[in-house]
Amino acid sequence: MSSNSEKIRELARERDKAMLGGGEKRIKSQHAKGKYTARERIEMLLDEGSFAELDMFVKHRCTNFGIEKESYYGDGVVTGYGTVDGRLVYVFAQDFTVFGGSLSETFAAKICKVMDMAMRNGAPIIGLNDSGGARIQEGVNALAGYAEIFERNILASGVVPQISAIFGPCAGGAVYSPALTDFIVMRREASYMFLTGPKVVKKVTNEDVTQEQLGGASIHSTKSGVSHFAVDSEEEGIALIRKLISYLPQNNLEEPPLEVCTDPFDRRDEWLNEIIPDEPNKPYDMYEVVTAIVDNGEYLESQRSFAPNIITCLARFNGQSVGIVANQPKFMAGVLDINASRKAARFVRFCDAFNIPVVTLVDVPGFLPGTGQEYGGVIVHGAKLLYAYGEATVPKVTVTLRKSYGGAYCVMSSKHLRGDLNYAWPTAEIAIMGPEGAIEILASKEIAAIEDPEAQAQFVAGREQDYRNAFANPYVAAQYGHVDDVIEPSSTRFRIIRALQSLATKKLVNPPKKHSNIPL
Ligand code: HXC
Repeated sequence: MSSNSEKIRELARERDKAMLGGGEKRIKSQHAKGKYTARERIEMLLDEGSFAELDMFVKHRCTNFGIEKESYYGDGVVTGYGTVDGRLVYVFAQDFTVFGGSLSETFAAKICKVMDMAMRNGAPIIGLNDSGGARIQEGVNALAGYAEIFERNILASGVVPQISAIFGPCAGGAVYSPALTDFIVMRREASYMFLTGPKVVKKVTNEDVTQEQLGGASIHSTKSGVSHFAVDSEEEGIALIRKLISYLPQNNLEEPPLEVCTDPFDRRDEWLNEIIPDEPNKPYDMYEVVTAIVDNGEYLESQRSFAPNIITCLARFNGQSVGIVANQPKFMAGVLDINASRKAARFVRFCDAFNIPVVTLVDVPGFLPGTGQEYGGVIVHGAKLLYAYGEATVPKVTVTLRKSYGGAYCVMSSKHLRGDLNYAWPTAEIAIMGPEGAIEILASKEIAAIEDPEAQAQFVAGREQDYRNAFANPYVAAQYGHVDDVIEPSSTRFRIIRALQSLATKKLVNPPKKHSNIPL
């Protein structure tokens, strides 16, 4: 036997060793917790046979605390590249079987290497997180490693899509890398993210909380808004990432992929003509409108359970990816508040960064009043959404279905924020405020002067009707060109598609600057 074949056999042996990560016992323990290993996750994520692993033979260089006696190939993170539906992506998966997936200097260097490659080659980067945080024995070198990753997250932001899945622990400063990425997927009941764990919380604030209550998927997808998608299994999370990627371009210089569309572009939904209730305060379900108008009724919703008064989702019109922002009259009447503004602002900025046109469906009674909102800084948070729409240069198509009152009219992709094509349904009411509020202000003295309650009610009803006739319709806005056309609801899909086609060659550049100063 030649020495070459022995060397090749040796390579196979070393590879087999590396494939075992922290060893069979720890792999079994990972499986016993209902979790997949890093390599199994990557296998599920990428097209079959497409994974090219890098740095498989890297080991840590630490000599503190006796750790020099224990080392494993790969050092706790599996990195490399492969394809999703034939398109290049870079990936890293933290390997909990090696020192609990904790981050060392070399671990961080491996992640930085694939992030740099993703940036240079213009492809998305996907991180699968399952880690005990900074490797304690590595001290400041682990912290330095985190910061090196953060810097790359920041530089990659808006250049290549960055997606994080949390399939286990993610605690301490480690949370900031996912937080800097575009989307976070969390697995319910099996993952958590927090800056300080339950024990520290108990010590500092005397609160008793479990890991799940403090930073589980349910909390982050309903209360904090940290997570964009909550899933029940790793399989579901990984399928979701593959779907998400299908809507996105490879990088900020490319367009999202165009799918073959099997849904007729001129399909009409006659029932949309009847969806707006006669009573102005009666809700309807905006999801029904979204489902009716997009290709095959399919969309991928981000942050479904956080601020449900606004809907943010990716969908397609005639095969073209779009981001949809829609007020939801079924929840808090579709009002804009702090959370809705933050949620939609970040979504609009994501779409704009990655050349995804924004379609906005408007039915908004205004901003939510009250001390809770004002003390929480609704001015600044509302300004974020205003800013996001105003700076966006992607095609922007807006349809006002019903209410569009006050500041919320300006904010929701109005013509004045460089909305390209703004349509209104005949049921639209575009005004400073609703009739009740307006008459209360305009006729308060006259109302007070009428003593008989019935006569008073009749007077108010009459004035409100006058106001409705004058303002609560789309024609005043149309008369001034603030909406480009009043359209039949049943034709909405066709009108949006035709608008997007006309905007395919849109060129709009903002003034040169170092960077903007969005009200953070
Ligand atoms: C080194 C670690 C480790 C760590 C876990 N391990 N975390 N080794 N550094 N941070 C090792 C364990 O010693 C063990 O080794 C193996 O990983 C599995 O850990 P277990 O505790 O047995 O697993 P489990 O019971 O599932 O608990 C998982 C855990 C727990 C909840 C993550 O290990 C834990 O609390 N770890 C410490 C978390 C932490 O405080 N990290 C520092 C956060 S501060 P063996 O040999 O037995 O398999 C931080 C700052 C970052 O990260 C700042 C960035 C700016």
